[in-house]
Amino acid sequence: MSVLDEDFTLPNGNGIPKIGFGTWQIPAGEAAYAATASALCQGYRHIDTARAYGNEADVGRAIRDAGIDRSRVFVTSKLPAEIKSYEGAWQSYRETMAALDLEYLDLYLIHAPWPWDRMGMDCRRENVLVWKAMEEILESGRCRAIGVSNFAIPDLEVVLAHCRIKPMANQIRFFVGHAQAELTGFCQHQEILVEGYSPLATGALLNDASLAAMARRYQASVAQLCVRYVLQKGVLPLPKSTHPEFIRQNAQVDFILSEDDMRSLDARKSTA
Ligand code: A2P
Repeated sequence: MSVLDEDFTLPNGNGIPKIGFGTWQIPAGEAAYAATASALCQGYRHIDTARAYGNEADVGRAIRDAGIDRSRVFVTSKLPAEIKSYEGAWQSYRETMAALDLEYLDLYLIHAPWPWDRMGMDCRRENVLVWKAMEEILESGRCRAIGVSNFAIPDLEVVLAHCRIKPMANQIRFFVGHAQAELTGFCQHQEILVEGYSPLATGALLNDASLAAMARRYQASVAQLCVRYVLQKGVLPLPKSTHPEFIRQNAQVDFILSEDDMRSLDARKSTA
């Protein structure tokens, strides 16, 4: 059995495949369609997109065309970061579903606690209103789990204090040298699944000589080492690639990093 066949469990009991295919920065059109199709063909059963990526229509078409039963593919999308009203959340959800052309989502996330062009802005009140819409979308059966992305501890605390249903996942930037120990620990303590985007630091780790030396000891590539590291932190990696060979390789991570190597990776300072 490969890691591609294994699940983490969300707080509501639903399984979520342990490796997801990330589609951030894959251009809309043929590139997004082909990359998603390639991932599905190679056994990925978890696809992560967002309204803001602009590629939902192509990702959805690739999922529909793959001929895999819908219940066997886990699909995530995200509410754009700039949408901070209850009505806006519902409206954007409908747009996402029209673009994907799927019946339901497996996971719907608030993309960020603040609009990207006003990072750090205090939107705590607005996030509580948006979260109410997320809860209703969940309860209406239109998606199977809800969560957040890029939320720091104070952002989460406000939602946790006002919610009826707790966020089930927090998708954050996570890679060797940027493991966000405090935030990850907080989420895991709250039983919020942490998902890691940019597990290869968007490529910045790939030419690192010391990582290459460690990877060789496992007969793995640096990319595989990085994906494996994320998994062993109990975090769900979302590697992205447009090349079928890389897509295949990134999911072949059936080796175990030693405790010593994990410690040494934990101790690395971020270079990205
Ligand atoms: P490409 O998309 O051209 O295939 P991240 O997952 O951290 O966002 O990193 C994505 C970047 O890493 C992309 O530039 C992608 O290239 C590259 N990449 C992904 N997997 C591999 C791999 N196995 N080997 C080398 N480069 C990779």
